[in-house]
Amino acid sequence: MKDQPRSSFAPTILTIFGATGDLSANYLLPALYHMDTEGLLPSDFRLVCVGRRPFNKRSFLDFIAKKSKILKPLKKSKNRDRFLSHLSYYRGDFEQPLSFQKLKLLLDDRRGGKHRCHNRLYYFATSPEFFSPIAAILRGSGLLAACVRHQRSTRILVEKPFGFDYPSARKLNRELLRYFPEKQIYRIDHYLAKETVQNLMVVRFANAIFEPLWNKDFIDHVEISAFYDDRVGGRAAFYDRTGALRDVVQNHLLQILSLITMEEPRELLTEYIRNAKVRILRSLQKYKPSGVRGSVVRGQYRGYLREIGHSSAAETFVALKLFLNLPRWRGVPFYLRTGKGLSRKVTEVTVHFKELPRCLFAGCAGNVMVFRIQPDESVELRINNKVPGFGIRLHQAKLKFGYDSVFTKHIPSAYERLLLDFFQGDQRLFIRSDEIEAAWRFIDSVRRSWRKSPLFSYPAGSNGPTQASAMMERDGREWWTGVDKVVK
Ligand code: BG6
Repeated sequence: MKDQPRSSFAPTILTIFGATGDLSANYLLPALYHMDTEGLLPSDFRLVCVGRRPFNKRSFLDFIAKKSKILKPLKKSKNRDRFLSHLSYYRGDFEQPLSFQKLKLLLDDRRGGKHRCHNRLYYFATSPEFFSPIAAILRGSGLLAACVRHQRSTRILVEKPFGFDYPSARKLNRELLRYFPEKQIYRIDHYLAKETVQNLMVVRFANAIFEPLWNKDFIDHVEISAFYDDRVGGRAAFYDRTGALRDVVQNHLLQILSLITMEEPRELLTEYIRNAKVRILRSLQKYKPSGVRGSVVRGQYRGYLREIGHSSAAETFVALKLFLNLPRWRGVPFYLRTGKGLSRKVTEVTVHFKELPRCLFAGCAGNVMVFRIQPDESVELRINNKVPGFGIRLHQAKLKFGYDSVFTKHIPSAYERLLLDFFQGDQRLFIRSDEIEAAWRFIDSVRRSWRKSPLFSYPAGSNGPTQASAMMERDGREWWTGVDKVVK
C-alpha cells in the first residue's frame, strides 16, 4: 500500500473502454493526468482510450478538458504535451469483434512490437451491459495474452454497477470468471480508496483503547450517512433504473459497514481482508418479504419527476435499520441513510457508545466517535467534561483530529489510489465476487419487502423525509447532527 516511484512499475499499457464518458472525464483522466505530473505512472506507460466518437488524440483531450469538472485548466498546462505523448485514441465499437482486431494491431505493433512486453490492463468504464461482451471479445481476439518471458500480466478493472440484483451480479461474475481468474479481476468501489475509509481499519486495529470496546457490550448503535446535495441531473436515465439503495447502499455503505464491524484480519493480505468483510456481508439479517415497517424509509425529492420527465417510483432517499447475525454485534442496530437532493454533501460514520451503567454525575452522556469521511476529513471523539464554575455540570466536548490541520501533503484522490493499485496488481481495495453477491442478497431482501411500503416525498435541500427521523425516534434515538451544544 506504499507510494512507489514511477520506475518500480513494469511497462504498462492501459486501455480504457468508454473513454468519452463522464467517469472518464471527471475521474479517470484527471487522476491519470495528475499521476503523470507527480511521476506516479509506470515507466513506459501507454494509455489507449477507446470510444465510439471520431477523435484524434488532441481533439479527444480537448473534449475531455471541456467536459471535465476537474481538468478545465488542462489546455494551458505545460504538462499537456507529456501527457499527450502517452496517449492514443482509438475509435471502436465494443460490439464489433472486428474493431478489436484493429485494436490488437495498435497494441501490438506500435514501436515495432515492443508492447508485447507490457502489462496489459483493461478498464471497463462503459455501461454495464457491455462488461461481459467486452470480456468475451478480448478473449476471442487474443488481447489477453501477455508476455510470459517477462512475467507480464493481464488484468481487468470493472466499474460499478456490478449487477442490478443478486442473479445479474452472479451471472456477470460467472461470465467474467470464464475468461479470467479472480486474481485478474478488479471490481471497483471507489469508497474503499478514500483515505478516510482506509483509516477506519487503522483507528480500530492500531489503537489499544478502541478495539476492546468495539462490540455489543459497549456500543449502543452506529450510523452511516452519505448525503448528496446534487440532484440526478444528467444521470437521470441511469439513476431512475437504480435508485439510492442500489446506487450507494449496496456498495459504498455496506463496504463501510464491513470495515467498521469486521474482525481483525490475520494479516494485511488481500484474501484475509476479503474473508473478514464477506463474513459481515453474509451475516446481514435479511428483511422478511412480509414487510419492512419501521425498518426502512424511502423517499423521493419533490421535483424529481419533473426533472426526469415521467412518472417513477425510484427512491432518491433511503434510510434503513439493520442487524448483524454475529455474537459481537447481537442486538446492535446499524442505521444507514443516503440520498440525493439533500441539504449538503457529507459522508459520516457515527459510533455511539453506551452510557455508563451508573454515573456519579447528572447529565452523563454516551461517548460518540465520529469518522468524517468527507468533506473536512476528520476523526472526533465526544467526551464528558466539567463546565467551569461552581457546582458540577457536565458538557460533551470534542477531541478532534482534522486532516488539514495535521497533513499538508496532497491527499490522493480515490481514483489515483485505485489506478496505482491496479498498476501494481494489489487487490486489497477491490471487491471479491462473493462480497458483491452477499451484498446483493441483502439488498434484494430489502427490495422484496418494501414493495408495499410508501414512497415519501421530501423537499429538495432538506434532510430527507421526516419519516426517517420518526424511525429513529421510535427507537428513542435521533440522527447525529454534530451540533455542539453551547454552554451558557
Ligand atoms: C457513485 C454514485 O458511485 O458515488 C453517485 O453512483 C454518487 O450517485 C457517488 O454521487 C459519490 O461519490 P463521492 O466520492 O462523491 O462520494
